[in-house]
Amino acid sequence: MSDRSHRGPGDDQRVSRRGFLTTAATSAAAAAVVGAAVPAAAEPMRKADSETTHIVLNVNGRNYRLAVEPRETLIAVLRERMGLIGAKPGCERGECGACTVLIDGTTRYSCMTLAVEAQGRAITTIEGLAQGEELSTLQQAFIHEDGFQCGFCTPGQVMAAEGLLRKNASPSMDDIRLGMSGNLCRCGAYGHIFKAVQKAAATRKSGGGL
Ligand code: FES
Ligand code: FES
Repeated sequence: MSDRSHRGPGDDQRVSRRGFLTTAATSAAAAAVVGAAVPAAAEPMRKADSETTHIVLNVNGRNYRLAVEPRETLIAVLRERMGLIGAKPGCERGECGACTVLIDGTTRYSCMTLAVEAQGRAITTIEGLAQGEELSTLQQAFIHEDGFQCGFCTPGQVMAAEGLLRKNASPSMDDIRLGMSGNLCRCGAYGHIFKAVQKAAATRKSGGGL
């Protein structure tokens, strides 16, 4: 794990979250890298009944108390109840990876995870990677390497890469291809995505960035 208090060699090229969004205007692709947009909403009051169960979800270091139905998926709760819309509903059947989040540091499809299953675990979404205005090394690398086109798959790609780099800090290109194989990109930006992961690994290894 890199020391988050240090900066890396490419610091003069670093892009802040606000700067990137301003420069890139309001494109969906720009928002995708940072998981921008809706701040976490307050949980709407929902009447608990026999169909609901009370749970506490820890998302990006913050606890959320919720009454959920046992059938509710994690992605639905993240997006519709917490306002965390970075994870994208693509196929919603475990095929595309657009909904990828980390649970206890491991990549998981949030469309295939029930909210009740995630109780007591540390959930990380794309919104949790930046620290304030400072984008993570990985997000910076996706920007610098043009690791996205339409941006729809990007939050999932970034989270898959984060999961990969937490398990393997120095992946080979084959490791990267394999580690990212659960995430599809209909724009075919794979070459740029893989380069971004490689760049982020090198920067993190040198002690730079978040
Ligand atoms: S939306 Fe979850 S894998 Fe496609
Ligand atoms: S950038 Fe468009 S789907 Fe991947």
